[in-house]
Amino acid sequence: MIPVHIAIIMDGNGRWAKKRALPRVFGHKQGVKTVKKIVKAASNLGIKVLTLYAFSTENWKRPQSEINLLFSLLMKFIKKELKELNDFDIRLRILGDLSKFPENIKNEIDRVCEITSKNTGFELNIALNYGARQELIRAFEEMSKQGIKKPTEEIVSSFLYTNGQPDPDLLIRTSGEFRISNFLLWQIAYSEIYITNKLWPDFTQQDLEAAISEFQKRERRFGGI
Ligand code: IPE
Ligand code: IPE
Ligand code: MG
Repeated sequence: MIPVHIAIIMDGNGRWAKKRALPRVFGHKQGVKTVKKIVKAASNLGIKVLTLYAFSTENWKRPQSEINLLFSLLMKFIKKELKELNDFDIRLRILGDLSKFPENIKNEIDRVCEITSKNTGFELNIALNYGARQELIRAFEEMSKQGIKKPTEEIVSSFLYTNGQPDPDLLIRTSGEFRISNFLLWQIAYSEIYITNKLWPDFTQQDLEAAISEFQKRERRFGGI
């Protein structure tokens, strides 16, 4: 079975640049190129939802210059790819707290999400200023506001940014790091995890296919025997 939902912790941009004695910026620029390739590859392979971790709530600890660059790359991507998103029937959703973002950035993101909201071929989630713990706190607050005292799993799921989407079948992390880094803690309860040493800028469609074929060999038991 082809996984319905794949989530990726795109890691290793900085190390990719370092290996080439280049500033980290170059790794991020190359990383955006990989994003474009992998979105197309995933949609061609029949995957329905792709979630990409682009900026965590902890990434604010980075130098301001790197943060600015990451946002400007992201905005460029969202603006420039709008036509392609529509051509490929891709719906864009942002997972994360955009409330403190500058008004112009927020408006632009909302606009693209709105324009692509009728696309049904493929769902692209970009996790931006995203932290799974923050996502859960937000859900609890929202449930309490609505007077929900006995939440079920379905109710909690419906208050997450991924509301309405199936949980990831497969979680991929690049650059060989064995950790979750505050990503989708609730949603990955039963995801298969695949870690590759490839750095994100070097990740290719073949690497994605390798991850999927490894996934297909796994026996998912969901607690059964
Ligand atoms: C992943 O690459 C991209 C983001 C977290 C935005 P890194 O920037 O974390 O690259 P490394 O881990 O330093 O190599
Ligand atoms: C995880 O990568 C976050 C993103 C890919 C956006 P990091 O590079 O920030 O994670 P740590 O610091 O290695 O845990
Ligand atoms: Mg990293």
